Amino acid sequence: MRKNRILVAAGVALATFGSVASTNLAEETSLKKIFKDDFYIGAALNHRQATGQDPKAEAIIAQHFSTISPENLLKWESVHPQPTTFNYKPADAYVALGKKHKQFIVGHALVWHQQTPKWVFEDEAGQPAIKEQLLKRQTEHIMAVAGRYKGQINGWDVVNEALNDDGTMRQSKWYKIAGDDFLANAYQTAQKADPKAELYYNDYNLWKPAKRDGAIKLVKSLQAKGLKVTGIGMQGHWGLESPSIQQIEESIVAFSKLGNVMITELDIDVLPNPSNRAGADIDATFEFDQKYNVYTNGLPNEVQQKLAKRYADIFTLFHKHRDKITRVTFWGVTDADSWLNDWPIKGRTSYPLIFDRNYQPKPALQAIVQAVKKEKS
Ligand code: G3I
Repeated sequence: MRKNRILVAAGVALATFGSVASTNLAEETSLKKIFKDDFYIGAALNHRQATGQDPKAEAIIAQHFSTISPENLLKWESVHPQPTTFNYKPADAYVALGKKHKQFIVGHALVWHQQTPKWVFEDEAGQPAIKEQLLKRQTEHIMAVAGRYKGQINGWDVVNEALNDDGTMRQSKWYKIAGDDFLANAYQTAQKADPKAELYYNDYNLWKPAKRDGAIKLVKSLQAKGLKVTGIGMQGHWGLESPSIQQIEESIVAFSKLGNVMITELDIDVLPNPSNRAGADIDATFEFDQKYNVYTNGLPNEVQQKLAKRYADIFTLFHKHRDKITRVTFWGVTDADSWLNDWPIKGRTSYPLIFDRNYQPKPALQAIVQAVKKEKS
């Protein structure tokens, strides 16, 4: 009889523990709560999500994220398509959403060589604009856009992707016309438009030593002129194997000497790609070839587990350097939203994020939670 009583008591205890554990697990799967003492964690929102048209995504955003970034709606071509035309409605909704959920609101990106209308770089005759004209336009754009969200957007990607992978300056129209002054003018104007906002330099492939050194040189030169550059955004467009944890760590440590370090566009490409695919240069695209679209009927469990392990390893590194890292942003909410479904090859089915096409957490999310809980124990 006593044995039965013990068994019954044990059963009740296990059931209670189990329900408490699952409740705790459900409670603890709030990423923003897990990382609340470490760094902001969030995602890039697309137009639908920013404007309240994707309630399932908003539920994820509210539960898991302490920061949001705008995937496209604050890019020059979106917000300032014509010299005297501004399209603030989507960005206003984006900022309102961030304030509603008390999140750290990021602005992306004031100056970029992509998604910038042609008129910005041309004179009335369609010839290349002169330096003074281009810098005047840059100043007007930044004063208008960063000025509008003064005190609301907490940090800006002021200049995005100004470097080549070898660390030299990208020969963009910005650089060809205005030289280094396009950088100095951008940060000087952004600081004037919103003195309290954090100001970043953002780029991809910054794990590459030459590009890392180029970014350090660029930021140091701006800071030496007394310009505010709060930190460096390392875009995390990485693969299952590359870059190595060590390569990422070396850049995190190097950049931390200059200011805040942010992982700004994290996604893990699980698809096979043509050999010379790397980084995130949207001009580097390839023709569709079914041999590179291998998971049209879902992600095989073996790859799902590799992805989970990769994310666990990456977040173990981030947690180790939580004193240097102020933000980690996934580049999209669910796999369905990812730019990688269309880059570097259009029309593929990719699985780079931690929520699936049904808005469900993937094993990668649980792997992150378990890895960090282990670090914290
Ligand atoms: O909004 C138009 C739509 O009206 C039109 O019908 C459609 C036709 O293709 O295009 C739509 O615009 C697309 C836009 O995304 C919004 O969906 C552009 O063509 C497309 O080029 C653009 O791609 C974005 C890309 O930047 C270029 O801006 C991706 O979504 C976005 O994820 C990607 O993000 C960049 C970061 O800003 C900087 N770092 C690299 C990263 C990946 O390239």
